[in-house]
Amino acid sequence: MAGLAVNVDHVATLRQARGVRYPEPVAAAVLVELAGADGVVVHLREDRRHIQDRDVRMIREVVSTKMIFEMAATAEMIAIAAEIKPALVTLVPEKREELTTEGGMDLTRHADSVSEAVSELKGHGICVSLFIDPDSTQVDLAKQAGADVIEIHTGAFCDAPTQKAKEAGFSQILAAARQAKALGMEVNAGHGLCYQTVPWFKGVPEIDEFSIGHSIISRAVLVGLERAVQEMVALIKAL
Ligand code: PXP
Repeated sequence: MAGLAVNVDHVATLRQARGVRYPEPVAAAVLVELAGADGVVVHLREDRRHIQDRDVRMIREVVSTKMIFEMAATAEMIAIAAEIKPALVTLVPEKREELTTEGGMDLTRHADSVSEAVSELKGHGICVSLFIDPDSTQVDLAKQAGADVIEIHTGAFCDAPTQKAKEAGFSQILAAARQAKALGMEVNAGHGLCYQTVPWFKGVPEIDEFSIGHSIISRAVLVGLERAVQEMVALIKAL
């Protein structure tokens, strides 16, 4: 059965909007675990627009399932990962001006630097996932770069404007997941997933874990974090 890792970045977004001390992402991390999530995800961006360094360290301390650290493959972030030793690092591309992570890593262009980052992180005993688009070349290159896991970018599927485009996007995700499994990698999926798109994965055993943030935190504003997480866990258990 697939797991659920909940990204709490947007709890920090709300806090940073006012520059105050609440809501506390560390409290959110504890609550999502209590509600049945299998892990907690944070993305420490270079511009520190939401999650702060102290959040990363405190969440690493309090999480008892697993802490997943999303980061760009920079020397600064590799040093932080080496210090906190998360259960998994997910390497993502990062552009200063983007609203959120807008695409997967381009391993065709950055194969050497990504391979170096992967081997440095693995040298610190950290498992590494690469966030890539559902594309067969990228899956092969992720394997060649030494990744233990890939996370398939589900954004194009989730944002597809028509049913036909959604079906095409979903087929690409399925093909990439099967290819990665055949190559011996674990497969996570994330970005843009919500209560309407997760049920598409019924009967797809290739996905090991879903990484979901915005839709769960948004629902939590209205129904509470515990219920929002429990509802997503129930959807995933029913797949
Ligand atoms: N996975 C990765 C690699 C991401 O960068 C993000 C966004 O921070 C997510 C998953 C979660 O996306 P969303 O907030 O749209 O659920």
